[in-house]
Amino acid sequence: MTIGIGLLGLGTVGAGVAEILTSPGGRHPLVAELELRRIAVRDPNRPRPVALPPELLSTDPEEVVNDPSVEIVVEVMGGLEPARSLILAAIAAGKSVVTANKAVIARHGEEIADAAARQGVYVLIEAAVGGGIPIIEPLKQSLGGNRIQRVSGIINGTTNYILSRMTDEGAAYTEVLAEAQKLGYAEADPAADVGGHDAADKIAILAGLAYGGSVERSLIPTVGISDLQARDVSYASQLGYRVKLLAVAQHLGTAADGSECLDVRVHPTLVPSDHPLAVVNGVNNAILVEGDPVGRVMFYGPGAGAGPTASAVVADILNIAGIRQMGGTGGGLDPLLAASRWRRCSLVETSRTSHRNYVRLQTSDQAGVIGRIGSCFGHEDVSIQSIVQLEASGGQAEIVVITHEVEEARFQAALAAIQALSGVQSVAACLRTL
Ligand code: NAP
Ligand code: HSE
Repeated sequence: MTIGIGLLGLGTVGAGVAEILTSPGGRHPLVAELELRRIAVRDPNRPRPVALPPELLSTDPEEVVNDPSVEIVVEVMGGLEPARSLILAAIAAGKSVVTANKAVIARHGEEIADAAARQGVYVLIEAAVGGGIPIIEPLKQSLGGNRIQRVSGIINGTTNYILSRMTDEGAAYTEVLAEAQKLGYAEADPAADVGGHDAADKIAILAGLAYGGSVERSLIPTVGISDLQARDVSYASQLGYRVKLLAVAQHLGTAADGSECLDVRVHPTLVPSDHPLAVVNGVNNAILVEGDPVGRVMFYGPGAGAGPTASAVVADILNIAGIRQMGGTGGGLDPLLAASRWRRCSLVETSRTSHRNYVRLQTSDQAGVIGRIGSCFGHEDVSIQSIVQLEASGGQAEIVVITHEVEEARFQAALAAIQALSGVQSVAACLRTL
């Protein structure tokens, strides 16, 4: 029995999906049962990398959603609207949905999941995080017996590609970003990648699954790589670190009102060169899940691009198709395959969280400056792991400090005192350290 697929979008990911669906040989036999019936695009005359009958294309996405021969709707058009409304329309029409759209799921996931549960249909999102890496279903299903302590990783392919090329080849930021766009890794608006917002969408989704409750996306502290200076990447290398854009969701405890307190954030981070995340390069992503009793599990692979992302989309289509082949949902949804929430989560204020830090200070090259900087840290009980003067010329010096783990409020108080010191011109850079 064939199953009708409607595609909303035939860009990088959509074309990758079409390629798999139109070449089933050597894949799971269920792929041969999936038939592309309608495809929405903006420009039907645009050349496509995969040959398809032109009559499948439509410039009206609602027509695709409402086509009675379409049983599963695959949303790979991106953006918030009309993607959100189309997903809700498909659900209202009793159709399961597969989407790669992390921006929509991070902001409207609760509304969408509630609508899907009411209609008894699935909305599956494996491609929304980590490209080709299976991480959504493992968090929902395979790791369900654990108490998750921390989910952290590199979950944006574009920025990891840029940082790897800058670190290893000294490549220029704008040039490498243009290449990432050409390779289909970047979002339609690459500001979402380089500003850290794409990674923030993804960590909101992962935290929601790991901790069983929605995370308020707009409250996630987010720093991207657009202001990162090549100098800090180079100093980090000299000190035995690689700079990575990390996304982290950490469980800090349970509040008196019963909600789970989480530290969720995205920022460039110095990762020790011998840490498993330090060797994740290029477009690859990696997600480290720490849970009790499993310990540490790392998921690694290509985090963006047509083929890897399409692999994840098709896995979701197959999950739904398999259930249909077994006779449908029978009025109930598999509670592990359907996203479920059973707790309330709240984000802890940044000032109350603790981290290690890297600070670069521009100072005068004179006696006593390092001593006074050390005293400011000591006064706020900030323990220093290392302090080095890395450059000195023309009476000016650059001093780099790496701290041990410290509460953010105390660290900021020390920085404020340091900035007011005579002989300190500026805090030129401040990054987190693993
Ligand atoms: P893309 O290359 O820009 O493709 C978007 C497609 O949607 C195009 O085919 C476009 O039509 C069509 N489209 C957009 N708005 C439309 C509208 N209003 N009506 C009809 N068609 C419309 O984007 P992408 O890179 O494939 O990404 C798609 C989604 O997957 C996004 O949510 C993205 O975040 C997510 N994602 C992407 C990757 C990746 O590596 N690229 C990885 C994981 C997840 P035209 O072709 O005619 O312009
Ligand atoms: N723009 C995203 C990235 C696509 O670079 O990771 C994959 O989600």
